[in-house]
Amino acid sequence: MRVRARLGEPLDDVVDLLGGRVRAHHDQQFWGSRHGHGTQDTFGRAMRIFSGIQPSGDPHIGNYSGGFRQYAQTQEQGEAFFCIVDLHAITIQHDPAALRDGTLDITAMLFATGLDPDRSTVFVQSHVTAHAEAAWLLSSVTSYGQLGRMTQFKERAAEEEFVSAAVFTYPVLMAGDILLYQTDIVPIGDDQRQHLELTRDVAQRFNSRYGETFVIPDAVFPETGGRVMNLQEPAVKMSKSRGAESGTVLMLDPPETVRKKVKTAVTDSGTDVRYDPDEKPGISNLIELLTVVTGNSIQDVEARYDGSGYGQFKSDVADAIVEVLEPIQVRYRGLRDDPAELMRLLTVGAEKARAVSAPTLAAMYERLGFTRP
Ligand code: TRP
Repeated sequence: MRVRARLGEPLDDVVDLLGGRVRAHHDQQFWGSRHGHGTQDTFGRAMRIFSGIQPSGDPHIGNYSGGFRQYAQTQEQGEAFFCIVDLHAITIQHDPAALRDGTLDITAMLFATGLDPDRSTVFVQSHVTAHAEAAWLLSSVTSYGQLGRMTQFKERAAEEEFVSAAVFTYPVLMAGDILLYQTDIVPIGDDQRQHLELTRDVAQRFNSRYGETFVIPDAVFPETGGRVMNLQEPAVKMSKSRGAESGTVLMLDPPETVRKKVKTAVTDSGTDVRYDPDEKPGISNLIELLTVVTGNSIQDVEARYDGSGYGQFKSDVADAIVEVLEPIQVRYRGLRDDPAELMRLLTVGAEKARAVSAPTLAAMYERLGFTRP
């Protein structure tokens, strides 16, 4: 049975329910009847989707292409949870005021790019204390050696002057995020592949030591648009913190700025609009961006611009990006100017997230042998 926390339910029942859900899937009718939409697994329960989004930095079209756009699509496939991971944001030295603003900024952006609060659960990680608790419990089944082999940890450790313990244990917190919700699929970028492998290892180790407790999640990666490159440095992934600013198109850039950034994008000395990431990284990146914002295929784009040179192509890419961004920017403004409404939406999200994660956390404590008040 898919666990739904019901307030006032005795703890033992909750744990039993969880055991049943993970082990047996005997809930076909019950679950099927409650979920009319979305993909269901072979047992008839709705697919559970979870992803985490960092609240730091100004979101850019790379985030849209590989993130926001995918979230809005996946929410159609099942029961989706989108978590703004503010606890992850303090793993490298941060500015408290920026964290506060960034949390509301990203909330507004998630709704502006298509998340539907009636369908998806959008919440802030620190509002649901189960996440911090799960991270501690799971650290007991996480290998120190494996954490030390995480590429992201090694990179950050090399860059930062002060390397916090949190930057090292970051993937354990992420594993808890995912496992608390009995997640089936995790839409993520390629850079999170290793963290997801670790999550699966942690879940398997817990399950085999203490009994079946967690669903083992699968990662899903965007089919296209997962790696938008910096327009000035086509070898560098577009990022909040790296690469030329003039090569990063922000979600909130005004049309003139978008046009300027696209027109000055680095290309090559040729003239043909052809998709060839090795030989023509700049043009290929623009082609990919155009497919993301228009929905056209690479072949369509190549055929349309056959022999027409780069000028018209770039100007059309800029127009297409502007066209997608404009309505998002309008919705964003409306939401961001109403922090009380944003907090209301986040409160609703936190309540749902608490209710859904509570039985899993309770089962973790129980299986590990903790006495409960
Ligand atoms: N580590 C992810 C990133 O940097 C963010 C994240 C935290 C996440 N918890 C998660 C992503 C859970 C997916 C699922 O992008």
